[in-house]
Amino acid sequence: MCGIVGYTGKGNAAPALIDGLYRLEYRGYDSAGIAVEGENGIQIVKRAGRVKGLECARGLEGHAGIGHTRWATHGAPTERNAHPHAYHGIVLVHNGIIENAYTLREGCLARGETFVSDTDSEVIAHLIAAEYRGNLLEAVRAGCEKLKGSYALAVMCEKERGKIVCARKRSPLIVARSGENLLVASDLPALAGEAEAYALGEGEFALLDGDITFYDASLSPIQKVRTEFDASTELADRGGYPHFMRKEMAEIPAAMRRTREEAEKTLSLSPLYEVLCQTEYIQILGCGTAYHAGLCAKTFLEATCRLPSEACVASEYRYRDPIVPSNTLAVAVSQSGETADTIAAAELAKERGARLVAVTNSPDSSLNRMADFVLPTRAGREVAVAATKSFNAQLVALYHLSEALARAKGKPFSPLPDLSAAAEETLLRSERVENWIKSFQNARTALFIGRGADFCAALEGSLKLKEISYLPSEGYPAGELKHGTLALIEDGTPVVAVLTCARLAEKTMNAVHEAYARGAHVFLVTTFLEYAGREAVRDAVLLPPCDGLLSPVLSVIPLQMLAYFVSVARGADPDKPRNLAKSVTVE
Ligand code: F6R
Repeated sequence: MCGIVGYTGKGNAAPALIDGLYRLEYRGYDSAGIAVEGENGIQIVKRAGRVKGLECARGLEGHAGIGHTRWATHGAPTERNAHPHAYHGIVLVHNGIIENAYTLREGCLARGETFVSDTDSEVIAHLIAAEYRGNLLEAVRAGCEKLKGSYALAVMCEKERGKIVCARKRSPLIVARSGENLLVASDLPALAGEAEAYALGEGEFALLDGDITFYDASLSPIQKVRTEFDASTELADRGGYPHFMRKEMAEIPAAMRRTREEAEKTLSLSPLYEVLCQTEYIQILGCGTAYHAGLCAKTFLEATCRLPSEACVASEYRYRDPIVPSNTLAVAVSQSGETADTIAAAELAKERGARLVAVTNSPDSSLNRMADFVLPTRAGREVAVAATKSFNAQLVALYHLSEALARAKGKPFSPLPDLSAAAEETLLRSERVENWIKSFQNARTALFIGRGADFCAALEGSLKLKEISYLPSEGYPAGELKHGTLALIEDGTPVVAVLTCARLAEKTMNAVHEAYARGAHVFLVTTFLEYAGREAVRDAVLLPPCDGLLSPVLSVIPLQMLAYFVSVARGADPDKPRNLAKSVTVE
């Protein structure tokens, strides 16, 4: 979380920093700030809120600077807590969490030092200032030795003009050269189009001072190989759509098609095939939407391959002392490939003997680097905080992995259909959910219900709605309503029922009637025309024909669309919901 940038070169630093921060806003947008080294020292401008608040600083003169866009962890999202933080001539930006910040701060306070923010980051400036003996690089290293937790740092010093020192531990940092300009960024989008980029390794340091020098943890200079980055990391634009989310939903069919092609290629590789032959248990690890993709895959896997499997919330898995039976295949699912909880869960699964497959949308991600096998999703860059096309692509990849498993295990399996054309059709049919928003706009709560795979889709629909429209909602197994949640239903409560599994359809309709009888406005997402016309149903999206086990890849589309329309109708920003960030790199 948080995005950091740095610039030192011949041009003006401020515009480069601000433009870089715009491209990193997906990492957080609670506050932003830059520090620019001018003729009269380092000048800092910070604002609460989004990067656009820094436009007033675009004209600052100076050829070196650092910048930050924040997702608040310690301390409210105020200007006072915005980065850069400065202490006695040391100025820095930080991404990560310092776990021993409180103890370190107590030490500084005992020495009579004062703090101006509530952040964990400010103490790093104090530590470095205390270690400073005329060499910024050495002071940063000495300061870092005292830190527990995660950090990516870009540090400047009033006394060492034009220099930036970088350090990293468990938070990503990229350093790049573009002609005579040297750059730092948390991630590639901030460097879009730059020629020569290097990913700073764990515990390494970089000194930007006319040129880039890399150092290992003991400050011995090291050579680094230039990192080849995927061209799809280029800066995205909205392509004429009002929001990235809307554009990314329109890209679902293409994302599914590309992912299918990729899966067919990747899964034919023999080393993975051998592992699949031995696999007896599957643990799918992920957070949020990626976890929901895991739930859908588990339902599919068990039904088709008859292999025991579980979908695990990665942030829970890492703390539950998980049992990892022999011949377990761990499948870590993550759009970004940088989610701290998913990485930690995957590490633990590996430590306990599982083989690891990473299903990510980011070829250069940490998760890919640690995995035994990578099964890429080819959704293309996703900018909106709410995952849409990446979810559909994850499902396609996971369904293909299930098919490969079935084959490796000699289980009968009908070839997977290409559902991208059906997704295209579903997008068109989903437009009608714009008519549903009257029931949602002023509701106090909303419910999404389903059984089996439909329940998994319902969970994702509910997450999407609450995430971007701030309307409390629950995804619930349809049969469980009567065990408590039915009490939430009052006159006009919107209930969306997902109904695509023939075997379960009548059962789900029971819950629909129970909700309707209590005043609910019931909407249906279904593959069955006969249910769409029932009196209890206010309106329905009829999906193209699809096997009920694969249907979440289609049924989620009207739910994503509904969340989008409700968000816009309620005056929220669907691309940048409050309190969230696209890449969750802290625990
Ligand atoms: C919801 C959403 C999040 C992410 C979660 C995991 O729309 O996007 O729930 O799915 O933070 O992120 P990744 O997939 O990058 O690991």
